Amino acid sequence: MGWRAYHEATKHTVERLTAERRELDWAHMPAPFRHYEGVPLVDLPAEMGALGAEGERGGAEFLSRLFYYSAAVSATKITQSGTRYALRVNPSSGNLHPTEFHFATRGLGEWPDGLYHYRASSHEAERRAAGGHWVKAVLEAALAPWSREARVVLVLNSIFWREAWKYRDRAYRYCCLDVGHAWEALRRAALEMGCEAHAYGHFLDDKLRRVLNAEGDEQPMLIVALMGDGVSGQGVNAEAAWWGGEANILSAETVAYPQIQGVHRATSLSESIAPVPQAAPGEDWAGGVRLPGAEKGGERYATVARRRRSALDFQPHAEAMPLAVLSAILSGAVEGHGCDFEGDLSGMPSSRFVTLYLYVHSVAGLERGVYRYSPGTHSLRLMLAGDHRVAAAGLSLGQQLAGNCAVAFSLVADLERAAAAHGERAYRYVHFEAGAVGQRLYVGAERFGWQGTGIGAFYDDAVHHYLGLKPEQGQVVYHFALGRAVPDPRLSETSTAAS
Ligand SMILES: Cc1cc2nc3c(=O)[nH]c(=O)nc-3n(C[C@H](O)[C@H](O)[C@H](O)COP(=O)(O)O)c2cc1C
Repeated sequence: MGWRAYHEATKHTVERLTAERRELDWAHMPAPFRHYEGVPLVDLPAEMGALGAEGERGGAEFLSRLFYYSAAVSATKITQSGTRYALRVNPSSGNLHPTEFHFATRGLGEWPDGLYHYRASSHEAERRAAGGHWVKAVLEAALAPWSREARVVLVLNSIFWREAWKYRDRAYRYCCLDVGHAWEALRRAALEMGCEAHAYGHFLDDKLRRVLNAEGDEQPMLIVALMGDGVSGQGVNAEAAWWGGEANILSAETVAYPQIQGVHRATSLSESIAPVPQAAPGEDWAGGVRLPGAEKGGERYATVARRRRSALDFQPHAEAMPLAVLSAILSGAVEGHGCDFEGDLSGMPSSRFVTLYLYVHSVAGLERGVYRYSPGTHSLRLMLAGDHRVAAAGLSLGQQLAGNCAVAFSLVADLERAAAAHGERAYRYVHFEAGAVGQRLYVGAERFGWQGTGIGAFYDDAVHHYLGLKPEQGQVVYHFALGRAVPDPRLSETSTAAS
């Protein structure tokens, strides 16, 4: 099944939602944490200094901080019935966390070279193999590795069943968005420690699966290579060994979703296909609203990363968001990502595929309406004037938070241009990009005391109709909302600082 058929088949409509209504099968909810049995466990130190580029630090400290500020458990919620569940630094649709973090290291302080899996439940590393060749082996699966000097290479795997349990066939979209969020969380934490992160979506799927010995339910989705002086030392050249480990069973029963399998197969690569560069369309922004200079300051990433939470809902009568804050959030959301599929690594002109449409409900100094954002000129073009709060909530499957927030977003991907550049594989890439932009919206808002919520549920074609988009002009792939969160009574413990 190609991406077009999959995308059409998984659009939300009122009729489909009514026909598909059913209870969740709680007895077979997949476990949110993966463990490998029969492998050595390596402790990641809990005692950490501040997240920063300065100072000497060894491999264990580097990895501990990297995950602590990108993927670790950061809060607990308790439901009315007393059930406790964990929340993490990276957000996830339905808090189901399909993304697993595998990583290979070489020459990383005193840390033994090898292949590992991050055990998020206890903030430990599971050592699946020892040896100095794993970084190279992972990078060799990428079709144009520009990161030969990388000392840490992460592979973000996805477990589709974790999302399909709730979202059924539409889950592939959520898995890809989730990868985008996790990638950006990693990139940002690495950046704070003086590292650059290069992401590769263009790799040979089966080859990488073989390198990782990935279990049947995990599929590699993105490689993230870290480079720079963020870590010191020579590394421990361990003798080659293989443990592999036995992956835990996530639920007694799983349900197969052929459309997910189909789109994943269609977007897999078995041979090198060179991207065909596609020029980004020119922008006619005459008459747009030029955004003012971005608000200066804002809290540091290290302070807000673990505090970030999705708002359950927003306060509809909160004070308006200052325009300079919106300006700062928008400019931060569209900076370069450093990835092969946008041309950033090869020196090709950078080519992003996602455009932000804003439903401005409450921003000081900006009239209400629907706008399109131009990153090139950092300006907004008014498309529909007036109050769109009811429509924004309605388009997001009736979720009130999209109407109660200060600004709601539709992220629209130029899928035709992406597919002309990358073929079927483009379907993954536009969702990775949208997820990464979403992560920047979360973090950008938190830095200025505002909050966000990713919204994966929307009536696709109703959004296109509302925005006046013809099919060839783009497809909505993500919604988002920013505002002042209402307090969440279920939030019981939050760990923000390094412990
Ligand atoms: C791709 C994606 C889609 C999401 N869709 C929705 C949504 O439609 N409605 C909603 O209220 N929250 C949505 N969320 C927020 C998640 O429910 C939230 O991230 C999760 O419960 C974990 O909470 P946290 O973000 O506070 O860690 C989404 C999050 C992501 C990453």
